[in-house]
Amino acid sequence: MFFVVLLLVFSVLQDVVLSKPNIIFILVDDYGFNDIGYHGSEIRTPNLDRLANEGVKLENYYVQPICTPTRSCLLSGRYQIRTGMQHGNIQPSIPTALPTDSLTIADKIQQAGYSTHCIGKWHLGFYKNEFLPTRRGFDTFYGFLVGSKSHYDHRRCDRGMCGDDFRENERQIRTNREYSTTLFSRRAVDIINSHQSSKPLFMYVPYQAPHSPLQAPKRYIHPYKNTIPDIHRRKYAGMVSAIDEGVGNITRALKRKGLWENTIFIFSTDNGGQISRGGNNYPLRGNKGGNFEGGIRGVGFVCGGQVRNKGTVSRELMHVTDWFPTLVNQAQGNLDGVKPLDGFDQWNAISGREKSPREVILHGIDPLARPIGRPLFNSSFDTTKQAAIRYKDYKLLTGKPGYKNYNPNPRTGLARTTPNDSRKKNVWLFNIKDDPLETTDLSASRPQIVKEMLDMLAEYDKSSVPVRFPGSDPQANPDLRGGFWGPWR
Ligand SMILES: *[C@@H]1O[C@H](CO)[C@@H](O)[C@H](O)[C@H]1NC(C)=O
Ligand SMILES: *[C@@H]1O[C@H](CO)[C@@H](O)[C@H](O)[C@H]1NC(C)=O
Ligand SMILES: *[C@@H]1O[C@H](CO)[C@@H](O)[C@H](O)[C@H]1NC(C)=O
Repeated sequence: MFFVVLLLVFSVLQDVVLSKPNIIFILVDDYGFNDIGYHGSEIRTPNLDRLANEGVKLENYYVQPICTPTRSCLLSGRYQIRTGMQHGNIQPSIPTALPTDSLTIADKIQQAGYSTHCIGKWHLGFYKNEFLPTRRGFDTFYGFLVGSKSHYDHRRCDRGMCGDDFRENERQIRTNREYSTTLFSRRAVDIINSHQSSKPLFMYVPYQAPHSPLQAPKRYIHPYKNTIPDIHRRKYAGMVSAIDEGVGNITRALKRKGLWENTIFIFSTDNGGQISRGGNNYPLRGNKGGNFEGGIRGVGFVCGGQVRNKGTVSRELMHVTDWFPTLVNQAQGNLDGVKPLDGFDQWNAISGREKSPREVILHGIDPLARPIGRPLFNSSFDTTKQAAIRYKDYKLLTGKPGYKNYNPNPRTGLARTTPNDSRKKNVWLFNIKDDPLETTDLSASRPQIVKEMLDMLAEYDKSSVPVRFPGSDPQANPDLRGGFWGPWR
């Protein structure tokens, strides 16, 4: 009898160990801090709010200021200075990509026995076949390779070269002028519906919305006609509503299929909102593309049956590189062949069991950004260079910090007054915990902290690989290959 019980217990335990969680990662594009209901937005996101309320809201979570950098950090688990992706977005005709010596999170999760799918925007380079998503750990791909395009006709122009951009796996396809958010959501639902439950599922869904161009079906925009007077903001709100509905469809499909209880579901932005394109990061300072909080403080939450402390808020420091070890470990994968990671496993912090293992975030060092002012603080790190680093509660910015203004409150149109700094100013220090709005520069009153953090930047800088950002290549022209953007070397 005893042995029978023991055997039973053992087989139950084995089931628990063997049943790996499904992992669904939704990445939204240019989604601002104030663009989700639970941050007080005037945009309605009932599905996202409900999911976040049932899970863990990440309220000290950082991404990179623009698209390619965040995606490179998410997929490689490494800072941009390790992969040559320090500078800007990959434009369609630029022959660069996330180097293949960095295995991707999808490579490792695929190796752990998962069925892996990428649905949406790639934006990690495609000039050679080896950089396509289907060669970077994804069994299937449905989406586009460039950074943005029309949401309906899926066309993109770059330096006078124009082409279509939509693929199923590696095959170029033309879609029926359907809206991108609808196409991607439906594809995700189809994959869930036809999924063989013997294999765990990893689905990465990088929507293009609400990135510009500001386009959405009228039925999503119309409900805001009396509440949002600004036309850009109103269209943007419609794009967000479509995402909210699409995410609702995806989670419903997971529940119908009986997968939800064994799922880790993540929602994250890729960078801050772009004010001029309808996004909003109120009450923060800054915008997409800059190192003030409005550019990098992420909206994010984790939910699904595998989350333990449901209905909580995590204020533990987290960075987008952390998903790599966190999720590969949850997939019971290994890190064999992975180059040294900058990410930390955050599962215990997300679960409220431990403090975050992270004290530092290198927000970035971009040696190609225009230098500003003259070197200060007699440091081995040149403060004219664009960089930003977080250490515990402090953040240091140097060089050209990007957009500095406060976001207007979309309900009133009013914004806090931005400090009138000299155009040559190139050092700022903020205590982000006490002063998340970055109102009070402490660099003059805390020079010791500035120096310490400049030393940290100097160390990172020394270990950087060269930037991989060559010029545009006319050979990329889609006219040379059937009118599609695609590998050309
Ligand atoms: C969600 O599902 C409904 C019902 O199938 C569909 O009509 C709608 O277009 C879907 N929404 C999105 C954004 O895909
Ligand atoms: C600048 O730093 C160097 C090396 O740390 C030191 O030797 C030198 O005295 C410093 N100069 C000034 C003006 O503080
Ligand atoms: C900002 O400061 C500059 C000089 O540093 C001055 O010329 C300008 O008028 C100031 N602007 C405002 C809005 O106070």
